[in-house]
Amino acid sequence: MTGNTADLHQSLSHVRGAQRVGELRTDPSAGPPGNAGPPVRRGWFIAFEGGEGSGKSTQARRIATARGALLTRQPGGTEIGASIRELLLSPDTAGLSDRAEALLMAADRAQHVDEMIRPALVTGQDVICDRYVSSSLAYQGAGRMLGVEQVRTLSAFAVGDTWPDLNVLLDVPVDVGLARLGGPPDRLEQLDRGFHERVRQTFLDMASATPEHWLVIDGTQPLEQVSARVDAALIARFSWSR
Ligand code: TMP
Repeated sequence: MTGNTADLHQSLSHVRGAQRVGELRTDPSAGPPGNAGPPVRRGWFIAFEGGEGSGKSTQARRIATARGALLTRQPGGTEIGASIRELLLSPDTAGLSDRAEALLMAADRAQHVDEMIRPALVTGQDVICDRYVSSSLAYQGAGRMLGVEQVRTLSAFAVGDTWPDLNVLLDVPVDVGLARLGGPPDRLEQLDRGFHERVRQTFLDMASATPEHWLVIDGTQPLEQVSARVDAALIARFSWSR
């Protein structure tokens, strides 16, 4: 564990003692409430977001390890979701319509919330999710041009009252992110530059529209600096002492 990670671990553990019981849901996308029932969430729920090659998965893994949190991802966090992920990302699924893509993303998310995320949160476990609702708003809403509000409504049905406490956006220019990808591109990675520019801009727009729900980190810096900024920002955001 690095010094920074140890600090963060200590800081996050400190917060665990002050964990909120029965805290009301927060909707980071300022969307409509879903099937909001009685508030039950107790663990912290943080989503890491960004375009292709942003480095968000590395940061999500690092923070989850430091926090002892459940690390999961979308699409594909559950066994059923893994099949949905394969369908969504395989270049062989060439005929998938944009609306079917949005619905499959939502289906993966609904399964994931019911099977993993909500059960973890209600027992007090923290959850770090590599992509969540905001990815659908950016990729399907803006990238596919289905409309952010339409996709938000779909996402609200999928997640009910389970919204992240915070979205962490790792922001990198499209060219930088795409250049970092290795291996053959998947069905979404291979889309044109305009698609990825819309995705990036929509993440940035969401973050500036509701800054209380977002941390935006410049992902172009060397890994150690990005990590240090994520740690410092999380500590500051939650008033954690160093
Ligand atoms: P990953 O590369 O972070 O594993 O994400 C898989 C791909 O799925 C990535 O191209 C983003 C895309 N995606 C969407 O288009 N909509 C979504 O709602 C989610 C969660 C991911």
